[in-house]
Amino acid sequence: NLGVQDKCDFLEYYWERTNYNAVRDSIKQILPQPGYDDGSTGPVLVRLAWHAAGTYDMHTNTGGSNGATMRFAMEASDPANAGLEYARKFLEPIKHKFPWISYADLWTLAGVVAIEEMGGPVVPWKPGRTDKTQESDCPPNGRLPDAAHTQQHIRDVFYRMGFTDREIVALMGAHTIGRCHKDRSGYDGPWTYTPTRFSNQLDEDDELMMLPADMALIIDPKFREIVNIYAQDKKAFFNDFASAFGKLLELGVTRNGNDVAKL
Ligand code: HEM
Repeated sequence: NLGVQDKCDFLEYYWERTNYNAVRDSIKQILPQPGYDDGSTGPVLVRLAWHAAGTYDMHTNTGGSNGATMRFAMEASDPANAGLEYARKFLEPIKHKFPWISYADLWTLAGVVAIEEMGGPVVPWKPGRTDKTQESDCPPNGRLPDAAHTQQHIRDVFYRMGFTDREIVALMGAHTIGRCHKDRSGYDGPWTYTPTRFSNQLDEDDELMMLPADMALIIDPKFREIVNIYAQDKKAFFNDFASAFGKLLELGVTRNGNDVAKL
């Protein structure tokens, strides 16, 4: 038997805790970052969302973005995650401003907002992830792909998450944004001349960097066929990227009865 005041209090409380648009706005505000890389935190935020989720193993239903276990030293120190401390630090003030959002939701939402703001597609995103509390909840290191390897390794890693060849090519199209850093991965430089713009641009004059893993997409005939489709059809790339990235961020996510998306 709630009184009117109680109901108002509840609604206000509920509204504040579900105001993801306010969180989105705050994320947009930290994207321009003069003095950091190419002036935007967008690419490293996308990489954080991807690495948080890309540990998923469908055979054991472990890993994935739920839990935000990269907060713990064990996962943060996986060499594949070098440099992602920048992304986590950029988001910390937002976590302070909206303490009710889980890190797992914040990191994935930041990736989605960054893609959209850099001119990419709208990626479907649902809240409801929870943060795990123990270092022992971390997936083992070594589940993320190694840039020095090629098609067989890429398929092993992405098939383990449950992706198809077409989804793999779409997802790796994210290397249209951002850059490699010598002190993080050992590689250096951007993939395109517009690393803060999400596009299906090709490096036509061959002057820019490509990882062995990127090269695999044009060496492997099946991957190459899909690369050619996306190079000619930006709409197909954007659509497929949006659904594959949305799927990535849902891997292994279970929601409890308070799932706001279901209310
Ligand atoms: C950057 C490898 C797939 C998004 C990088 C870097 C490496 C790498 C070595 C450079 C890191 C640094 O030095 O800072 C790989 C490999 C992949 C893969 C081997 C798969 C075989 C993906 C996917 C996405 C993604 C699926 C997202 C959907 C990014 C972004 C950056 C990046 C946005 C730029 C980060 C920045 O500018 O700080 N990747 N990646 N990558 N990757 Fe990937």
